[in-house]
Amino acid sequence: MTNQNAADQPVALNDEPNDLTYFAFAENAARSAPPQAPEGLSEMAEILGSRYKLERLLGVGGMGVVYRARDLLREQFGDPDPYIALKTVSDDFAEYPDANALLFSEFALTSRLQHANVVRVFNFDVDMSSKRAFITLELLKGPTLDQLLCDKPHGLPWDELRSIAIPLIEALHYSHQKGVLHGDIKPSNVLLADDGLRLFDYGLGQPMEGLLTGLPRLSRTRFNAWTPRYAALELINGESLTPAADIYALACVLLELSNGKHPFQRLSARQAMNIKLDQQLQRPDKIPQLCWDALLKAIAFEPQHRSQCCTELLHAFQTPEPARRTGWLNHFSSKGTQG
Ligand SMILES: Nc1ncnc2c1ncn2[C@@H]1O[C@H](COP(=O)(O)OP(=O)(O)O)[C@@H](O)[C@H]1O
Ligand SMILES: [Mg+2]
Repeated sequence: MTNQNAADQPVALNDEPNDLTYFAFAENAARSAPPQAPEGLSEMAEILGSRYKLERLLGVGGMGVVYRARDLLREQFGDPDPYIALKTVSDDFAEYPDANALLFSEFALTSRLQHANVVRVFNFDVDMSSKRAFITLELLKGPTLDQLLCDKPHGLPWDELRSIAIPLIEALHYSHQKGVLHGDIKPSNVLLADDGLRLFDYGLGQPMEGLLTGLPRLSRTRFNAWTPRYAALELINGESLTPAADIYALACVLLELSNGKHPFQRLSARQAMNIKLDQQLQRPDKIPQLCWDALLKAIAFEPQHRSQCCTELLHAFQTPEPARRTGWLNHFSSKGTQG
C-alpha cells in the first residue's frame, strides 16, 4: 500500500507507525500539476527499452516495483549471466508528475557510490512506448533484513549481529562521505546477498549541501516522504534530511536486529518521545557496553543529542570484545580466589 495524499501536511504527522514509506505531495504541487499520467503512459510492456525482458516480480516498495529481467543485448553478445534487476515506478506512483524525476534522483545518487556494500546501479532509461522511466541494477539474491527477522523473531546472536552491523554502518558512512544521504534506512532496504550485505533504495536520498553539488534536488515542499517507524523526530517535524537522521534509522535497525523488536514498540519517534520510551531501553547482555553507549547516542530523539556521523558507531562495533571468560577459565579463577 502506498499512502498518497495531496495534503500540505504529511499524513504521517498523525504518526501512523508502520514500515511502509509514506509519501506526501504538497497541495500546491498537486494544484500546479494535477496528478495525472504523463501523456501516453500505458500498460507496461514485457520488454522495456527494446532491451530488457521482464521475467518476474522481485519486490514492491512504497514507490517502486522491481523485476528480475534479462538484458537481451548482453545475452546476444554471449554474456552467460545477463540477469539484472529493473526498478520502475508503481502504477499508482507513475501518475505523479515527479515520479520519473524521483527515479532519476535515485539513479544519480546511487551511481556516485562504488562500495562493496552498496548496490551497483547500471543505467537510467525511459521506455518510449510506455513512457516509463526505469533503472537497471545488479541482481541481488538473498534475504532482506526484514525477511531475516521473520526467521529470527528473537533477534540475532552477537557474532551475526556484528557481521551485519559493520558492513551496514560502513555502507552508510561511505555514502555520507560521498555526500549522499539515504533517507530511508530500514530492514527492507538492506539485503544479505551471497557475497555480502548491500544497502539499496536511495529513492528518498538527497545530495548533501557542499559535498555533492550540481545534482537536481527534488523540492521537498512539493514532495516529502519517510517511513514513520524509522524516521527521526526532526523529519517528522518537517525538517531536512541530515546524516544524523539516517543514523537514528540505522540505530533502530541495529537494535531491532539485536532482539527482534523495534526499540520503541514500532512507534514513531514523536510518539515514543511523548511517553519517554527511551528511558526504558535496556542493554541486552550480548551487546558490549561500548556498542550500547554508541547505540544510545545514535538513537537520541533530539538531533542535537544524537551522533552526527557514523564513526563512533563504527568504531564501537569494530572494537573486539574483551575475551569472554570460557567455562574452564571461570572455574579456574574461582578456585584461585577460594584458595
Ligand atoms: N537489486 C535488487 N535485486 C533484487 N531484489 C531487489 C533489488 N532491489 C530491490 N529489490 C527488491 O524489491 C523490493 C523493493 O525495492 P526498493 O528499491 O526498496 O523499492 P521502493 O523504493 O519502492 O521501496 C526490495 O525490498 C527487494 O525485495
Ligand atoms: Mg524500499
